[in-house]
Amino acid sequence: MKTIFIVDDNETNRMMAKNALDGTYKTFTLPSAAKMFKLLEKITPDLILLDVDMPETDGFGAISILKANEKLKSIPVIFLTAKNDAESEIHGFEMGALDFINKPFSAPVLIKRIETHIETDKQIKKSQQVVRDLHNVTLRIIANMVESRDTITGGHIERTQAYLEILLNALISAGIYENEMSDWDKTVLLPSAQLHDVGKIKVSDLILNKPGKLTAEEFDLIKQHSIDGERIIDEIISQTKDDGFLLHAKRFAGAHHEKWDGTGYPRGLKGEDIPLEGRIMAIADVYDALVSERPYKKPFTHEQAVQIIKDGSGTHFDSKIVEAFLTVAEDFWAELVRIAG
Ligand SMILES: [Fe+2]
Repeated sequence: MKTIFIVDDNETNRMMAKNALDGTYKTFTLPSAAKMFKLLEKITPDLILLDVDMPETDGFGAISILKANEKLKSIPVIFLTAKNDAESEIHGFEMGALDFINKPFSAPVLIKRIETHIETDKQIKKSQQVVRDLHNVTLRIIANMVESRDTITGGHIERTQAYLEILLNALISAGIYENEMSDWDKTVLLPSAQLHDVGKIKVSDLILNKPGKLTAEEFDLIKQHSIDGERIIDEIISQTKDDGFLLHAKRFAGAHHEKWDGTGYPRGLKGEDIPLEGRIMAIADVYDALVSERPYKKPFTHEQAVQIIKDGSGTHFDSKIVEAFLTVAEDFWAELVRIAG
């Protein structure tokens, strides 16, 4: 059953809408925008019926907050209004409302209109999903092409993406960087991480696959992949309207080799100046490099890798993220074993 939030400061109105919709939909009645935002932390409804005139945050204020939030902006909103003035209706549509329903409403009309909007929304989301899948597959192919030039690090992209998801869940359940991540959408964020090493496309195969230690000069060329990755993604950004996915991708690419104490590259950023995506990816990336075999080193054991990351807490890595990592480190290993199949 589809879920609908009914947000209205007037109890009679809430009850009328609830009585009309109960049975057809699962409803939640909420007396204020603040209560609505509280419940949105736990439940994502299929539609919101939002009163325009409310004390404190009114309907227009509430919809502008919804539309500015990556996670909430796709929830369809219908305004319930007692006023019948064209100007505020146009304003509402411009802010992203799907429709206006005048109070008092007739129950069958309310149900019918909601039905139509939910059906339309379903169709739109379906076609968005098709585009998103196509997008993700294309990126996966590009990322794999870049990775396949580099015979040393096979499977790195798939593993780091899996580690990232584990680490992200650990941060969320511990409430670490809750505000910073409040509008992150995992389904957007995780695939964007696949591009973190895309800049390696510009590094010569001879250096990427050199058996043995790199010279300082060669290492400088490898280091360029952070900035080059950022540039490649910037070029895509300049040619599209994407506002979420590619920005995350850019931060992953540009910041995953920065270190907490400022000794990383490419910019030598310090502490929280390093984009959070980069600080999270640093742990996933280093863990994977440690437990993988390289021509110049044997793989470290899981325990050694965990110890090295622990030792790097507060110098190489953000100690809050290390703390979360330590609670799920075993899951990293389990994922590595699973992917190795
Ligand atoms: Fe990298």
